Amino acid sequence: MSDVEFSVIILAAGKGTRMKSPLPKVLHPVAGVPMIYRTIETVKKAGAVEVRVIVGFGENLVRQVVDPLGAVCFKQKVQNGTAKAVQAAQPDSLTGTTLVLNGDHPLLKVEDIKTIIQEHTKKNNDLSVVSSELEDGKSFGRIVRHHGELRAIVEAKDASHETLKIKEVNTGVFITDAELLSEYLPMIDCHNAQGEYYFTDIVSLCQEKGQKVDAIIGHPRIAFGVNNQKELAMATKQVFKQKVDQLLEQGVIIIDPDATYIEEDVVVGEGTILYPGVYLKEKTKIGNYCIIEPNAFIQNSEIGDSVEIKAGSYLNKCKIGSKTKVGPYAHIRPESIVGEEAKIGNFVELKKVTFGNKSKAGHLTYLGDAIVGEDVNIGCGTITCNYAPDKKKYVTKIGDGSFIGSDTQFVAPIEIGKNTIIGSGSTLTKDVPDNALAVARGKQFIKKNYNSKK
Ligand code: UD1
Ligand code: CA
Repeated sequence: MSDVEFSVIILAAGKGTRMKSPLPKVLHPVAGVPMIYRTIETVKKAGAVEVRVIVGFGENLVRQVVDPLGAVCFKQKVQNGTAKAVQAAQPDSLTGTTLVLNGDHPLLKVEDIKTIIQEHTKKNNDLSVVSSELEDGKSFGRIVRHHGELRAIVEAKDASHETLKIKEVNTGVFITDAELLSEYLPMIDCHNAQGEYYFTDIVSLCQEKGQKVDAIIGHPRIAFGVNNQKELAMATKQVFKQKVDQLLEQGVIIIDPDATYIEEDVVVGEGTILYPGVYLKEKTKIGNYCIIEPNAFIQNSEIGDSVEIKAGSYLNKCKIGSKTKVGPYAHIRPESIVGEEAKIGNFVELKKVTFGNKSKAGHLTYLGDAIVGEDVNIGCGTITCNYAPDKKKYVTKIGDGSFIGSDTQFVAPIEIGKNTIIGSGSTLTKDVPDNALAVARGKQFIKKNYNSKK
């Protein structure tokens, strides 16, 4: 553990032209979490005392993610290079150890930051750049050494054929003192292929002025930068792979790890089986011994033990009690709480429903703004008419043990007592007391030999 106090400057003002997307690059999500959110959280967990983020393109959108995390935004009006971006962070109002990094390296880990700080301190460098050895250096800046000593970083676009062969590249992570930044940043010019102010030029500048400059070799994941959609998809795949490996280790049964998509905050209990195509999002929690069938999409929901979620079901912000069966093709919407040993069958939609233990809605039903007791049977095609012409939503209450015949409509607000029987095809507009039978439908009418032509 390092106990060095440090601040962080994160560069995130660029548009990310190569993303070919209207969204600012750093807001693109990796496994559901925007890249800039990841970077800020990582440096905070590593112990950063202050985090400054350089914003520019899509400033207002980026601020919406950055501000709530307690990081401070600094604006770079013109995106004329990474040196100007660092300068926009006003390093003269910072002191001591300062880390500079790009907002488009989403695989960076807390332990990487800690190691970098330790190495930098141990080597007693004035400026360290974190480098990595890559088979294909692509568009990365190349680390140029002379007799083993770091001399410069040369951008791919300015590099000669020979320089491009260098495998050691600049990951974009630098560590130095804020004072050094204030002194050297104004000296950087823009005489290069892109006509931009390159922060990377600080290396040769410092070297020439006799500062102790060196490279620290980092884990290859630090070098993983996202500049286009393909790299974004690769980053997401990497995060999903780590999560799936971790769950397999913990005893979750995953039929096809390459086709199972689980975000990092999700919890899955041991003995649960995940079929291919399952997508588990955000803070979803799944208990032990569940079966989650193909293409189930579950977001921010809590699933008990021994629950079956059958194919194609869509669950969002809901709770499902133990031993309940859901789907196939069920839609459970926010604020729904389903009890234990219940059944929500195919093509059933719940919205803001409390659904009691052992109750069943087997087929083709819409329940919205409803409180359903225990051991209730909801027949096929039942609907709560919760939305009124006054554009308000009204509640339907159904007591324990009631039997609702198929194709019933509850015109809310309405309260159905306990142990009632509702005749199928009823359109109920009035409350029904406990133990009653209620039928509200047109009577069957028969006229014999009516069709005289046949
Ligand atoms: C940069 C480095 C390169 C390194 C690579 C690692 C420079 C000149 N080059 O190249 O050596 O190998 O990162 O990924 O630094 N940004 C601003 N303001 C600007 C320009 C960029 O804030 O005016 C931000 C971008 O939003 C991005 C980061 O800086 O988060 C890096 O910019 P990018 O254009 O992706 O630089 P690379 O070409 O990848
Ligand atoms: Ca980049």
